[in-house]
Amino acid sequence: MAWKNLGEFLTSLEEKGDLVRVRSKVSPRLEMTELALRALRADGPALLFEQVEGSDWPVAINVLGSDRRIAQALGRQDLGEAAGTIADLLAMKPPSGIVAMIREPGKTLDLLQQLRSLAPKRVSTAACQKNETDRVDLGRLPILTCWPKDGGPTVTFPLVITKNPETGESHTGIYRLQRYGADTLGMHWQTHRVGAENFRRWSRAGKDMPVAVVIGADPASIFSSLAPVPEGISKFAFSGLMRGRPVELVPCRTVDLEVPAESEFVLEGYVRPGESHVEGPFGDHTGYYSLPEPFPVMHVTHMTWRDRPTYLATVTGKPPTEDAVLGRAITRLFLPVIRMVLPEVKDMDLPMEGLFINLAVVSIRKSYPYHARKVMHALWGLGQMMFVRYIVVVDEDVNPHDLREVLYRVSLQADPAEDFELVRGPVDQLSVSNRLENVGGKVGIDATKKWSGEGYPRPWPEEARMDPAVQARIDALLSAEPRLAQVLSARR
Ligand SMILES: Cc1cc2nc3c(=O)[nH]c(=O)nc-3n(C[C@H](O)[C@H](O)[C@H](O)COP(=O)(O)O)c2cc1C
Repeated sequence: MAWKNLGEFLTSLEEKGDLVRVRSKVSPRLEMTELALRALRADGPALLFEQVEGSDWPVAINVLGSDRRIAQALGRQDLGEAAGTIADLLAMKPPSGIVAMIREPGKTLDLLQQLRSLAPKRVSTAACQKNETDRVDLGRLPILTCWPKDGGPTVTFPLVITKNPETGESHTGIYRLQRYGADTLGMHWQTHRVGAENFRRWSRAGKDMPVAVVIGADPASIFSSLAPVPEGISKFAFSGLMRGRPVELVPCRTVDLEVPAESEFVLEGYVRPGESHVEGPFGDHTGYYSLPEPFPVMHVTHMTWRDRPTYLATVTGKPPTEDAVLGRAITRLFLPVIRMVLPEVKDMDLPMEGLFINLAVVSIRKSYPYHARKVMHALWGLGQMMFVRYIVVVDEDVNPHDLREVLYRVSLQADPAEDFELVRGPVDQLSVSNRLENVGGKVGIDATKKWSGEGYPRPWPEEARMDPAVQARIDALLSAEPRLAQVLSARR
């Protein structure tokens, strides 16, 4: 099922018992954070706050805070099915697309046809433009203040749409927006983001950069905005492919950008080169407050909204949080993208505790000396994987999702004098321990079994494993000893 808009998705969640309406009046200042985090930590439902202190509009939160809701957002039964779709799409990319075309022409043509039919459709009238005003008052929106020491109310789940002035390609990213005044917002795009790069391009040309901000859209488009979709592919095209129904785009009223026609709220305006204002502190993904820092200012000159819109929010903080759940899903869905460049990667885990960008565990099919190091450096060169501070590489027979097993392999199989690859490079702007912002150290830990070609002069010892025939005999014995079987079934 492809959800046309946020409202349709929320209705379906409610029908499945996966959305709870909160009828008491709740304040967007701190109270929604507390409820949202409690819901998320209980693996609970999405919440819809019907009565919001200080605003006429309802707030939806924790909407994508579980794997089941993310899968449903993409119109799938589970995340595995969604990962399969991405793998199929990747098989289309040249040069493998050409290979696929020769090997499986039927399947390839089907996919090509699908690609064409699912590309975004341009429309001239839209639900999101039913209401509009030039007299923007952001104070009307139920913008959350998430944490006690936040610098101000902040739009936490906006789709920020910008354009590369040289190619005309548009881009969508999720960057929080602190409300500065009735019609100004802090544009918190970190320096490595495509939005920030587009702004540098507009600044070089000495022109104001047009920006559109969507708050609340169909759930597949929200998910796609976060996803590491290769540059050059529109997030809305990707969203159409994922949900199996094209996204309808409508031109903004006052800026040369397009937004999903079924959006809830749209803010139109510009960011002026050279202008900045202090943003933060803000309770961030790290669980710490980000320090106050200057960020560019968005002037909101026009606002449109659909009839009876719902404001979509999320809350960041120390994991588990909604963005951590989204990050885990993205890792799972985009493993095929990594495998396309590194086919030796068998599996990968980015644990939530590592905030997704600090720690990666990768299992590989090792086939030559220093293969683990090749994989580390390739990962550090791959999009947002450049931020990963610790990359642990294990052999293919080690499950990277089993962190106890991983610790066992690291402490036993990695010699700190030989198997640590220490490098310096760009790190995430939110990263805390690096002395200078945006740059710092990274370490790769080769926890694979060592080969003689890697300077390991002794034979690698054999693992002591039980004889499978004995295990089978004991299994048979246990079927006759139910009490013993029961006590032995508990896992430590
Ligand atoms: C809830 C949430 C809030 C986010 N806030 C920010 C933010 O304020 N600034 C930022 O640069 N990235 C933020 N991100 C991460 C980006 O949205 C993400 O990296 C995305 O892939 C956009 O990257 P791109 O602009 O390079 O394509 C946030 C992600 C989530 C899930």
